[in-house]
Formats: sequence, structure tokens, C-alpha cells
Amino acid sequence: MNLTIIGSGYVGLTTGTCFAEMGHHVICVDNNTEKIRTLQSGAIPIYEPKLEELVKKNVAVGRLEFSPSIAASIAESEVIFIAVPTPPNTDGSVDLTYIEKVAREIAQALQPEMGYKVIVDKSTVPVKTGEKVSQTIKHYAGPNVQFDIVSNPEFLREGCAVDDLLHPDRIVIGANSEQAMNVIKRVYQPIHAPILETDVNSAELIKHAANSFLALKISYINAVAKVCEKTGADVELVAEGIGMDKRISRHFLNAGLGYGGSCFPKDVKAFINISRTLGIPFTLLEEVEHINDTQHIHFLDRIRDRLWVLKDKKIAVWGLAFKQNTDDVRESIALKLCEKLCGEGAIVTATDPKAMHTAAPILNPMGVKLVEDMYECARDAEVLVIATEWSEYANADLQKLAGVMRNRIIFDGRNILSPANLRAVGFEYHSVGRPS
Ligand code: NAD
Ligand code: UGA
Repeated sequence: MNLTIIGSGYVGLTTGTCFAEMGHHVICVDNNTEKIRTLQSGAIPIYEPKLEELVKKNVAVGRLEFSPSIAASIAESEVIFIAVPTPPNTDGSVDLTYIEKVAREIAQALQPEMGYKVIVDKSTVPVKTGEKVSQTIKHYAGPNVQFDIVSNPEFLREGCAVDDLLHPDRIVIGANSEQAMNVIKRVYQPIHAPILETDVNSAELIKHAANSFLALKISYINAVAKVCEKTGADVELVAEGIGMDKRISRHFLNAGLGYGGSCFPKDVKAFINISRTLGIPFTLLEEVEHINDTQHIHFLDRIRDRLWVLKDKKIAVWGLAFKQNTDDVRESIALKLCEKLCGEGAIVTATDPKAMHTAAPILNPMGVKLVEDMYECARDAEVLVIATEWSEYANADLQKLAGVMRNRIIFDGRNILSPANLRAVGFEYHSVGRPS
């Protein structure tokens, strides 16, 4: 099938590439012409495991191309996916200006002779956005254009996006017409995964409800971790014990510094805002958000309690990306920690295997020194903070680390090291919800 993807960011580029891998012909569009030039030159603007080789392979066989123009791309495409940003406004509502602009651009490009098109929203949007997109296209398009709107929310995780796209737990297709439903089922035909067929509103709601529920699990275990800290219990064992119940499951019960990234923080906010607007405040989610907002502050308080004063203390931070296996630092808790440490006058060095280039514009003005080598980053540090769950840090050479640090003190905000191993090398080890 011929497909167009509008927006070639983390979702659009990986989704488009995986559709090409599945055998479709895909044009990935972006209005950031610099990004399109980069992609056309054979480079990949983001770090995502397995993506680069798949892009190269599919470009080489002619199934994947890049374009700056919606109008030039959609004429031949049976299906047009929208994967543009839906960032939060300051009041927590969703900024839908990107979606609305794309809807107008599609409308202006559509011609009756192009035939029937299915326009699919893949961005995360508030329930009932599909109706607005449909009205907007009808309003701005000429007469006799034929189209349907579908909601097909995306559940990929950064860092394992390719695997998530090619082997999803489920595919949700929200369509209000059988014709549109059948077209999108054909797009996904090569994928072996259960398909849930819904109406458009339900599909949109599924996405916000799913992300909010995952965020809830994280905040729940982080709240439990605090109880563990006060009582000497071990949150890892508690999570294991809870998670062995299939109804709960162990997934997303890793205590830590809280959730970051471009989605959970904004999507929880959005769902709170949507329900408030509907007159049914979802106060449970307000607590989820509160727990997350205060989680890293509680961690910082513990570091301060240990060092008494942070001013002039050299603190090394391992990990800047919001999670492992990505260079994405949007809403990264690691950056929030760096900002607060600098704010108290600490001398901060930081490192990350992939996210130095994305973090630099934010950290350089704060005075954080970025160091490529993780051990050099920790040299002479009084405390090492682990802020991202990279496997490099989980597998660190502890003898080497002990040799470079001034004090052997680690604050592990992601519980990736073993207290027993650290004790054996003479480290003082603090983590989240586990006995020292
Ligand atoms: P992103 O910022 O990485 O990419 C969006 C792209 O859209 C950018 O390259 C931008 O230049 C482009 N764009 C903006 N306006 C455009 C226009 N008018 N025409 C063409 N291109 C335009 O964002 P993302 O992380 O890919 O997220 C996109 C959507 O998918 C959001 O709604 C997000 O909530 C949702 N989502 C994201 C993830 C994730 O892991 N990042 C997962 C599931 C869903
Ligand atoms: C998340 C969802 O997992 C995806 O299903 C969804 O498609 C995506 O949001 C989205 O809508 O954008 P992502 O943000 O890429 O994916 O990464 P996650 O693996 O979910 O991690 C999010 C944050 O939660 C990270 O900061 C991570 O460190 C934290 N986390 C995750 C925990 O603190 N504990 C856990 O047990 C799991």
C-alpha cells in the first residue's frame, strides 16, 4: 500500500520505517526541512536501536522516502498518518495547533480525483479530536473529496520502538466506517497481533487511559518505596511479591526517580484536564502526578541529608536521557536533578552514552560539565548519582569507580546496582526503597 506519514519524529520516523519493512511504500513528511535533508542524506536525526539499519535497508530498496511537502506526498497515498506533536499548554490542556494545521494542509491538498483517503491520527489526542479533524477537513477542502478519519493510537516505547512496532501487544483501530476499518486492517495485515476494533472516541480514550494507568503503577510503587525506606523493607521484594499476582504483573513496578519523557507527564496532565473539563475531576491522577513531581525532590533531600551542604561539593551524575536506550531528554528527571543540584551551588559533572548532544544545550548554561567517559565523570566526586537505567551503569567496573571517586558514596536513583556487590567494594550505597 502507499502510505504517507506526516511528522517524522520519534513516532513518525519509526512507524514509517516499520511500515516500509512490512512491505508498504512509505513517504515520511516533515515541515522541518533540515530534518528532511538529514534523512535524505542517509543520516538519522535520533538515536533509536535498530532504526538506522532499517531506514537504510528500506531506502535502498525504494520503499521509504522523505519529503518536506504534504501536498506532493498524499496524492498517491491511500492512507495518511498524522504523527505530529501534541504538547501540553500551561494549564495542562493539549496544544492541538499542530494537529489543526496538518488537518488544514491535508484539506487544501485533497482533490476529488485522488479518490477515497483514510486519514489516521497516530498522535496522542484528547477524546473527540477526530471529530474536530473531520470537521476541519470538510471545512477547508473543496467539494466532493472522500475521506474517513481513524484513530490508531501508538503504544511504542522509546528505546525499543522497532520491536514494539513489529511485535505489539495489540493494535487499536478506532473507525466509524467499515471501509476505513478494513483499509487500516490491511495496513497491519503483516503483523501478528490482536486487533481491537473500536469507534474513534474509544480509541482516543484508550491511549490516555493506558498511559495514565502505567504512570499510576510507577507512582504507586514509588509511594510504597517511601514506606519501605521508613521501615527497612525492600521495595524490590515487595514489587516481586505484588507482581507475581497475574492480575497486577511485575511490569512497571520499578521504583526510582519517577517517570519522565515526552509522554507520561503530558498525558497524565491531559487526562486530568480532560476529565476536569467534563466536570468529573480525576483526582486519583492528580495524586499520581504529585507523587511523581516530589519523587526526585525527596531523593535530593536524602543526598543533602548525607552531605549536609551541597554548595561546592562535586557531584557526578550518570545518565541524562529520560530512560535507557534513547537520546531523548524531554522531561528527563536527570536534568531536573542537575538543575536543582546546580541551584544549590554543587559542582556537577554529568555523562550519558547517547544523550550528551541533546542535553548539552540545557546543561551548558547551568554550568554542568559534560564528560564523555563515565569514570572520568566520577573522578574526585563526593557522590555519584545514577539517574538513568543504562546497562553500562548497571555493569560498571566498581573497582575502577572506587579508584577515581573522592568518597565512595553512590545514590542510585534507578535501583540498578546490587547493594551486596557495592558493600563488598567498600561503597556506601543509597537507593530507592531498599535498605542501604
Ligand atoms: P516529535 O517531536 O519527535 O516529532 C514530531 C514531528 O512532527 C517533528 O519532526 C516535527 O517537525 C513534525 N511536525 C510538526 N508539525 C508539522 C507539520 N505541520 N507538518 C509536518 N511535520 C510536522 O514527537 P513524537 O515523540 O514523535 O510524538 C508525536 C505524537 O505521538 C505525540 O502526540 C506523542 O504524544 C505521540 N506518541 C509519542 C510516543 C513516543 O514515544 N515519543 C509514543 C506514542 C505516542
Ligand atoms: C511510554 C509508554 O510505555 C508507551 O507505551 C507509550 O506509547 C509512550 O509512553 C508514549 O505514549 O509516548 P516511553 O515514555 O517511551 O513509553 O518509555 P517508558 O518505558 O514507558 O518509560 C517512561 C518513564 O517511566 C521513564 O522515565 C522510565 O524511567 C520510567 N519508569 C518506567 C519507571 O520509573 N519505572 C518503571 O517501572 C517503568
